[in-house]
Amino acid sequence: MFVTKSQFVRDLKDKEPVSSPFLVKFSAVGSDKNGKSFMNVVLLDRSGEIEARIWEDVPRYASTVVRDNYVHVEGRVQTYQGRRQIIINRVQPLREDEVEPKDFIAEGTLDAESLYGELLGYVASMQDPYYRALCESVLRDDAEIVDRVKRAPAAKSVHHAYRGGLLEHVVSITKILDSLSKHYGKLVDRDLLFLGGFFHDIGKVWELSFDRTTDYTTEGKLIGHLVMGVELIERKIAELEAKPGRLTGKFPTDKRLLAKHVVLAHHGEYEYGSPKRPKCLEALIVHYVDDLDSKVNAIAKFIEADPSPGEFTQMNKLYGRFFFKPDWARKETGPN
Ligand SMILES: [Fe+2]
Ligand SMILES: [Fe+2]
Repeated sequence: MFVTKSQFVRDLKDKEPVSSPFLVKFSAVGSDKNGKSFMNVVLLDRSGEIEARIWEDVPRYASTVVRDNYVHVEGRVQTYQGRRQIIINRVQPLREDEVEPKDFIAEGTLDAESLYGELLGYVASMQDPYYRALCESVLRDDAEIVDRVKRAPAAKSVHHAYRGGLLEHVVSITKILDSLSKHYGKLVDRDLLFLGGFFHDIGKVWELSFDRTTDYTTEGKLIGHLVMGVELIERKIAELEAKPGRLTGKFPTDKRLLAKHVVLAHHGEYEYGSPKRPKCLEALIVHYVDDLDSKVNAIAKFIEADPSPGEFTQMNKLYGRFFFKPDWARKETGPN
């Protein structure tokens, strides 16, 4: 049996009956004030995610409705405190061969291969032989990293949180850095800016697992992508130095330190997880451009996915405000 998916999260309307497969992103068992157990669930498909509640037969479902499982859900949409949720009546587990995985994986609208081609073009345009060799060793020559770079989301949620999102984010940043390097001219080193754009989030290819739902890996939780990026730079420089003829001499110390610094400082402030604040112009610029690009993407996607009619979106909890919906967001379009 192959379960076709005809209902997508984005299109679900209040009071609508639901009968459709979903991927479970999250589930937890709780109990109400009378001690009756219920399940809090987050379901997703490629168009978005929605909260759901199970009030009946909780012990029966607790082992099947778990993260990364496909389930067929029957129930009804209800609006609670201004937000849609599904009240689930019945759930059935589904095997992977009973669903079309593409229905559940949000992908970027841009093609990964052409984005990757653009990225390689920027790498090839670098002038500094050391910085360029370092970037090539990761983005051109390391097949495992290249494969993961093409598939990785840039985040678990919030910005570029879809397959290929990391590559989209990195190419977008590099384009902005390219124009800023022209704008600031001699004040900044274009190659160091590029290296920061390429490598600032490279640790995310191991910080996140993203085969079905996206989550942090153990390494991601314990080490994090900033330090993982620095470790990669150290490892690749050691490999380059060990290969005869790859570099003309040792990798210069100041360049090694600056390359690591732009990665370590890209979150900008201690409270955002940066062990160092930007201490050179390139690190400062990479930080602001990273922040800008992630916010533009997060807010655009939020507006795009917003189901409410009218001029403004629902409240965005992260930014604490409603956003004004431009014309492109008011047209009725289904997920594609
Ligand atoms: Fe980051
Ligand atoms: Fe980033």
